[in-house]
Parts: sequence; C-alpha cells; structure tokens
Amino acid sequence: MTTTLLAIESSCDETACAVVRDGREILSNIVSSQINVHTLYGGVVPEVASRIHVENISAVISEALNKAGVTMDEIDGIAYTLGPGLIGSLHVGVQAAKTLAWMYHKPLIPLNHLTGHIYANAFVTELKYPLMALVISGGHTELVWMESDWDFKVIGTTRDDAIGEAYDKVARVLGLGYPGGPKIDRIAKEGKPHYQLPTPKTDTQYDFSFSGLKTAVLQMIAREEKKGETVSVPDAAYCFQETALGMLVGKTTAAVREYKPAMLVLAGGVAANSRLRVMMEEEMKKIPETELVIPPLSCCTDNAAMIGAAGYIAYQHGLFGGLDAAADPGLMMPGEE
Ligand code: KG4
Ligand code: ZN
Repeated sequence: MTTTLLAIESSCDETACAVVRDGREILSNIVSSQINVHTLYGGVVPEVASRIHVENISAVISEALNKAGVTMDEIDGIAYTLGPGLIGSLHVGVQAAKTLAWMYHKPLIPLNHLTGHIYANAFVTELKYPLMALVISGGHTELVWMESDWDFKVIGTTRDDAIGEAYDKVARVLGLGYPGGPKIDRIAKEGKPHYQLPTPKTDTQYDFSFSGLKTAVLQMIAREEKKGETVSVPDAAYCFQETALGMLVGKTTAAVREYKPAMLVLAGGVAANSRLRVMMEEEMKKIPETELVIPPLSCCTDNAAMIGAAGYIAYQHGLFGGLDAAADPGLMMPGEE
C-alpha cells in the first residue's frame, strides 16, 4: 500500500504545492516564487505576499495535481504548513488545505515548516538516527537533535537575528539588494580578508547571535568613510561571511562532537550557500563517524515536497489535525511547546 499526499506550503513568499508518494517519491513539486515583486521593495512585504498567495494558490494546486497525473480521489491526505511564518501568508495555505480536506473528505496533517526543511533530506538519502539537523533559513537558526524519527529537541538557536536575515540585512547595507544570501555568496568569492569583524559571543554553548555582525559592518563602513575611503563590497561580504559561517560551523561541529549523531543534515535556504558547503565538508572530514548530508539546492529553499516528506512521517504517526486549525506564526517544534 502506498501513501500519496498533497502538500501545501505558503509560509513566506513562495506559493507551493506538491504530490509526494511514501515521503520519498516526488510526483510533482510546483513553486510559484514572488521574489521579483519583493525585490522591488528590498524585502518581503507581508501584506503583498498574502495577496499574491491568494491569486496563485488555486492554480498552483491544480498544476501540482495535473503534473503528478493524479486526481483528488487518489490522494490519501493533505499535508500543509501550519507555522511558523508570516500570518497572512500561512493563512492562505491553511485555508486551501482545510477547504480541500472538507470537500474531498481527506485527513489533514498540519506541519511545522522546519520539520519540512529537515525531512527534505529524505529525498537525498535514508535518514539515520540519532541525527543532528542544522536548520538555517531567513527566519530560523536552529540546531535540532533527533534521537529517533519525529523526536525533536532544539539544543541551540539564535539569540537575535536568523542567519538568513543577517545575510539579507548586510546585503542591504552593502547595496546588494534582496535576497541577500545568494548575492553575498557570489560576490564574496572575489573578496579578501581585508577587514576585521568581531566574532559574536553568546553565553550558552550552542546558541548563535548574528545581529552584532550587521552593526559591525555598519560601523566599519562609517570608519572607512571617515578616512575618506570607500568600502570594498567584495571584501566586506567576504569578511561578514567568514565570520558568520565560522560561528555556525564551529558551534555545529562542537555539538556533533558532543552528541555523536550518526548523521548531520543541513536544511533551509542558507544551506544553499557554497562557502558553507565547503567549510562544513572540510570540518566534518575530521569527524568521520558522522555522515554529512547536504541537500541539493532545489531542496534547500522553500518548497512543498519537503512538507510532503515530513507529512508522510506525521501521517504514519497518526498526527492528524482538524478543520478548526488556525495558522500559527510562532509555532514551536513538535515536543518543544
Ligand atoms: O528556507 P528559505 O527559503 O525561507 C525561509 O524559511 O526563511 O530561506 C531563505 C533565506 C534568505 O534569507 C536567503 O537570503 C537565504 O535563505 N539564502 C542564502 C543563500 N540562498 C538563499 N543565504 C546564503 N547563501 C545562499 N546561497
Ligand atoms: Zn523555509
């Protein structure tokens, strides 16, 4: 018996729907990105995002079903993102999922967006436990320890900005535009270690902090301007990136050494970063007992197939929700409530 799920994701600025079989096989994965619109404003405008979701969601769902070649009759359940994310954006996906569940009498599987990012790795390889996941996106920086399947314990998080947010803010300061992550990633390749930025400190072992870095970049620009010099954007991007990723990789590998997971998986939009991939591979070579899994770029940024992957596990655990569910912008990880 196979399980075919329709998955819906609309937590930020991507309207996405996928059909996934048994959590591993992607029958379709449609993502309608709003990035061109938000680029005009230099960042995601929540009200604009939710309006575009409303315009696109029906077409995205139809396309996902058509491309997969399945009808609603063949769908066993509807997995959807309940939170965290932007309330207006989430609301559109939640309403669409509930409407379809009601119309077609299908079970609903509400999901935490971050579990989706983690289980996106199930498309790459069979997950091995205990597992450590580093979830790095525009809204989150979490080190998640999983003793077994669907068992989440957040052992580290950010004290202030998420790492993706720091990339986006620093890119704006450097005049690179939105989204900042890929732009800094690209331009930093031409940079040199010309500037010194302080490594942010946190008093807890596995927590992160990134907002001080943005301030340090701003202060550095002011200092250079005072001297009558202009800041080299590639050098500033390089120095910011080395400092931010140094902290990320340092704390993650320290946690891996302590917890000794069978597998370390990267997840979320920032996992697409080319320098992070190299740094992580180099450091993890020193800890061969733990297998490193870095998902392909298409699995890193927001999509609905990942919600279908996590949804399959939740479905197996019988974690169904009702028609009374409401979008939860601050939803905690399962077990962390
Ligand atoms: O996971 P995601 O698509 O959406 C959220 O759930 O937030 O992540 C988006 C974030 C943005 O902050 C974006 O700048 C960052 O991921 N990002 C990157 C790269 N590609 C996307 N950050 C660094 N390097 C990249 N190559
Ligand atoms: Zn995401």
